[in-house]
Order: sequence, then C-alpha cells, then structure tokens
Amino acid sequence: MKKTLLILGCISLAIASCGNPGSTTEGSTTAASTDTETTVKAQTPSEMLPGEKLIATADCIGCHNKTQKVIGPAYVDIAAKYPSSEENINKLADVVIAGSKGTWGDLPMTPHPNLSKEDAKQMVTWILSLKK
Ligand code: HEC
Repeated sequence: MKKTLLILGCISLAIASCGNPGSTTEGSTTAASTDTETTVKAQTPSEMLPGEKLIATADCIGCHNKTQKVIGPAYVDIAAKYPSSEENINKLADVVIAGSKGTWGDLPMTPHPNLSKEDAKQMVTWILSLKK
C-alpha cells in the first residue's frame, strides 16, 4: 500500500517537473534550427562543401590530387579545362560513374557504378569550383 503511494507520488512529481520545461525547450529548439539554416547558407568558401567531403571519403584520393597530377589529372587542371556549367557537371558526373580513358592520356579511370548521380554531381561541382 505504502509502496504504491510512493510510486504514484514519484510519477506525478516527474510529470509536473517535466511538463512545462519540456515544452519551453521545444519552442526554443525550433527557433534555433531556423537560425542555423541561415548560418549554413552564409558559410565562407573555405568551409568544406558536400562534394569535397564525398571525395574525401571515396577512392578518388588514390588517383587524384587537388593541385598535382598523380594517376589522374589534378582537380585544378580539370577545373581549368571545363567551365562550371550545369552541362559540364552533368557530363563529368556520368564520366566518373562510367570510368574514362583517352581524354587526358593512356591511363584509365576506373568506373564507379555504386556512386549515385547526385553524389557524383556534388563531387564534380566541387572540382570545377577549384579555379586557379
Ligand atoms: C584508378 C584511378 C582513379 C580513380 C580511383 C579516380 N580517378 Fe578520376 N581520373 C583518373 C584518370 C586516369 C583520369 C583521366 C581519364 C582519361 O584520360 O580519360 C581521370 C579523370 C577524371 C575526371 C575528368 C574526366 C574528363 O572527362 O575530363 C574527373 C572529373 C575525375 N576523374 C573525377 C574523379 C572522382 C570524383 C573520383 C572518385 C569518385 C575519381 N575521379 C577516381 C583516375 C582515377
């Protein structure tokens, strides 16, 4: 009997202490996330773009370097060759997925069939943003 009362007391205390502060927090979280969105849009170019992050986690790094030719051409050389247009981004995203040989030399780029078109476009968008 006593135990049940104690438990009931605890529950009502918990509800009382959680109810109000809980709803206030919710309100301020919504306001905060709107703020964050504005901050993300205004980010400086030195921060990592989604395409750069994708490239950092893919195998591209084994053959490409930002400024120097390794097995594949340097990203800055690719950026110098293709203007950053929707058409080029679309075309080069397909090239990355399908693989390529003969555009830059005899060495081939392996295909990346598991890469989504969207991710490939993000990567190429970042590469073409690297004008010297
Ligand atoms: C096995 C080595 C290798 C890997 C891995 C690799 N590349 Fe390449 N990449 C090359 C070579 C070699 C070329 C030049 C191909 C040619 O001459 O047609 C190239 C060319 C390119 C081009 C220019 C294509 C053109 O038509 O001018 C882009 C863009 C590119 N790579 C992006 C990437 C991205 C993004 C990744 C990671 C998803 C990647 N590469 C992974 C070797 C590689």
